[in-house]
Amino acid sequence: MEPWTIQKLLNWVTEYFTGKGIDSPRLSADWLLCYVLGLKRIELYTQFNKVVEQEQLSQLHELVKRAGAHEPIAYLTGKKEFYSLEFEITKDCLIPRPETELLVERAIEFLRTRNGEQFICDLCTGSGCIAVAIARNFANCRIVATDISDAALAVAEKNVAKHGLMNRIKLLQGDLFEPVIAGLGPAKFDLIVCNPPYVSEPEYKKLAPNVKNFEPKFALTAGNDGLDIIKKIIADAGRHLKPTGTLMLEIGNEQGNAVRNLLETAGYFGDVKIDKDYSNLDRLAIASTKPAK
Ligand SMILES: C[S@@+](CC[C@H](N)C(=O)[O-])C[C@H]1O[C@@H](n2cnc3c(N)ncnc32)[C@H](O)[C@@H]1O
Repeated sequence: MEPWTIQKLLNWVTEYFTGKGIDSPRLSADWLLCYVLGLKRIELYTQFNKVVEQEQLSQLHELVKRAGAHEPIAYLTGKKEFYSLEFEITKDCLIPRPETELLVERAIEFLRTRNGEQFICDLCTGSGCIAVAIARNFANCRIVATDISDAALAVAEKNVAKHGLMNRIKLLQGDLFEPVIAGLGPAKFDLIVCNPPYVSEPEYKKLAPNVKNFEPKFALTAGNDGLDIIKKIIADAGRHLKPTGTLMLEIGNEQGNAVRNLLETAGYFGDVKIDKDYSNLDRLAIASTKPAK
């Protein structure tokens, strides 16, 4: 039998994943091979004809089987790229999504319009991906990042250290703003960002198996309409923002009108905008506090 080269393996795994209905089969095959062979993606292609050893073949075989049963590649490799940065990931935290990069992009745009050091709060930080991506791309800021899950915060801690941001990102455990008040007193932020759990219970039942069977439910769902956490954040955010401060929330694609309404009736916000993602779906709510009179 012909030996298993990288090229032959990539083709075989891609075909297997296609048959199993795995998202982005070629890319998924690339990431698994990179992980098992300890190579960068570009090196897979420069070493196409390299023969893969038996031990690595066995390891790959096991991982391909698990991925074929819809276990997310990021949990198998323990890594995920977000905003062109590499993050450590475990099953205790949500896998960062490409659509969340829009929130980071808008946050950085906003920060660049401001003067002086910016004080930011990242609620529901999970792996810490939003806080780290902002801090790596905007130097003059300090960030407080909170999450209710100790296990998720342990992952965030690794990512903050991996990107050398221990002096600029402080991690606190607790329910939304609660640890901010306890740990920092009545702090006022220039910017509050959050990708909260926003999936409704009926939507959760219909999620793809790679999400529903593997990612933590508490990171995804927020009551019957998916708005439980968003409502709490909107009710409290105004008190934690400076005048002309801004709140940016990732939202579900059917929540634009409801969230606009919540923000407009909260009493704190002057300017409310619902932004669309690259698939033209409602994805981000942006609200600025009214300037002080
Ligand atoms: C959708 S995930 C977002 C994770 C990360 N920010 C991201 O964008 O990938 C939501 C996160 O909210 C956290 N969470 C859920 N309920 C919370 C609460 N009441 N207070 C603080 N964090 C909460 C979960 O532990 C989870 O890490």
